[in-house]
Amino acid sequence: METKFKPVRIIGTGFYVPEKVLTNFDLEKMVDTSDEWIRTHTGIRERRIAAEEQATSDLATIASQQALNNGRIAVQEIDLIIVATLSPDMLFPSTACLVQKNIGAVNAVAFDLEDACSGFIYGLSIAQQYLQNGTYKTALVIGAEIFSRFLDWQDRNTCVLFGDGAGAVVLKKEVEDGSGILSTYLGADGSGADLLRLPAGGSRLPPSHETINRQLHYLKMNGREVYKFATKSMVETVMKGLSKIGLSTRNIDLLIPHQANIRILECVAQKLGLPMEKVFVNADRYGNTSAASIPISLSEALEQGRIKKNDIVVLVSFGSGITWGATIIKW
Ligand code: ACO
Repeated sequence: METKFKPVRIIGTGFYVPEKVLTNFDLEKMVDTSDEWIRTHTGIRERRIAAEEQATSDLATIASQQALNNGRIAVQEIDLIIVATLSPDMLFPSTACLVQKNIGAVNAVAFDLEDACSGFIYGLSIAQQYLQNGTYKTALVIGAEIFSRFLDWQDRNTCVLFGDGAGAVVLKKEVEDGSGILSTYLGADGSGADLLRLPAGGSRLPPSHETINRQLHYLKMNGREVYKFATKSMVETVMKGLSKIGLSTRNIDLLIPHQANIRILECVAQKLGLPMEKVFVNADRYGNTSAASIPISLSEALEQGRIKKNDIVVLVSFGSGITWGATIIKW
């Protein structure tokens, strides 16, 4: 799927990560792992874990308020809220409606989007369409997760990889000055659905004593296959997104990839011919925060002065589904 240039711009960003830090050394005391193994296989040193009383909408609310302040937008102006998450507060109502209530966005429609780690890129593309066609004027797109609640903390293959957090952006269609979202490229292949999944809790396997005893309410992952898919699909997705608008990897000023594993990011950078200085990395501090990882990274990159006016910024994700997507932005 391709979207042609329209001047929909990100005008505000914000993020929140919980205070509690869980280091690799803490994990050594919980499962049969080591700081050395985790660092050399993933590059992750620590991740944040939400407090017991926090739910995903709480993290999303703080990130959203920051994005509104950062963009100097009054909350009444927001007319669309999309929350990308695979760890909603509950099956329904949507986490987006809970955020709408929390921030007081009384004029907004609100819905959730479940597309795992690609959810934020998919959400951006939907908001962009609504703004382009004039249905809505100001959108809030959020990626928020407390995925730590869906991990088997006795499974060293998965529990070391993830962390909690939320990131948010405010989008507006503004006067054309050549900047904004230039291109979006999305993809999905449901034949890979078994590679990453949380089997129980839905209509296929509703919660029961049996599903709990069989640990089916936790993430299941084929790590090696996901690794192969991630490196291949992120490279292809960036190339396709760029080629739609006649750009090449030489034009990239900053690549902001989904932060699954630093080895994956190094491999992608190498295949794209990009030095690591042009790749934003915070997986070492936050681990994989799923749908939240790209908006958290974008907010941090801006805070750190890594993005200047007119820079070409490429957001790229892959995730369960399997799904992938890239957004090319002229800042
Ligand atoms: N500590 C110590 N040993 C471990 C750990 C651990 N935390 N985890 C696995 N091992 C062991 C394995 O048991 C295996 O032992 P064995 O050889 O005796 O069987 C050995 O380490 C090597 O295992 P591999 O799976 O080959 O390790 P690999 O180098 O592939 O790294 C990893 C595993 C990090 C999971 C990698 O495959 C990866 O990053 N895959 C992608 C995962 C990912 O990105 N998932 C999220 C997708 S986003 C979403 O949509 C939710």
